Amino acid sequence: MTARLNVNIDHVATIREARKTIEPSIITAAVICEQAGANGITVHLRGDRRHIQDRDIELLRDVVTTYLNVEMAATDEMIAIAERTNPDAVSLVPESPNEITTEGGLDVIGNFENVKTAVEKLKAAGIFVSIFIDPDLEQLDAAKSVGAQQVELCTGEYAELTLSARAAHGDGARKAADEVERIRKAAMHAHGLGMMVAAGHGLTYRNVGALATIPEIVEFNIGHNIISRSVFVGLNQAVKEMIEAIS
Ligand code: PXP
Repeated sequence: MTARLNVNIDHVATIREARKTIEPSIITAAVICEQAGANGITVHLRGDRRHIQDRDIELLRDVVTTYLNVEMAATDEMIAIAERTNPDAVSLVPESPNEITTEGGLDVIGNFENVKTAVEKLKAAGIFVSIFIDPDLEQLDAAKSVGAQQVELCTGEYAELTLSARAAHGDGARKAADEVERIRKAAMHAHGLGMMVAAGHGLTYRNVGALATIPEIVEFNIGHNIISRSVFVGLNQAVKEMIEAIS
């Protein structure tokens, strides 16, 4: 079965926030993504509110008819926002103030009690809980222990290895293939533990295909590459092309 695509529309808000104005509309973006065939909308409400704002979550909750997945840190402030706005899913991610983007999976082992409390609160509010995790078997075991229903495997390292044309040859190609195998093993492990498996970070039209062949991965969260392409071909077309690349 083809994996679902949630389009991460953070960077539509990045353009809006560059001028602190009202356009481009995140709501219009969400509707176009859904009409183009996306299975869900993902946004990351960051502590520094650099792109998505609290009000965006409220508006998206009213408008998104497919699936609203909100990425957030496991802080009291964020959990309270999730409880209030009731997205379909929350993906717990690590956050550090000066990072350009999320730098890797959540260290569940090192933050066990805090993550467990967050997961319990979210599940009590009826929200499906995913945790963003490196393809590391011990971290996956910890995600299961804290009660996660899904893990999203961090594909950041794979993305780095596949970024340039040079990476497609020789040693670069071998390293990328090894990373696909690491992700495959992690996906099988998480699936064996009874968790759903998603993947995301840095995925592109060019590199998603190898991961789309892993049957345990049922969902992709992809943002920057789709929004980048939409500048040239429009969002509708950019989403359709990613669905095509996955299938
Ligand atoms: N998944 C997670 C957990 C993320 O933090 C991000 C970036 O916000 C993405 C997926 C999407 O990454 P990209 O924008 O590189 O496609």
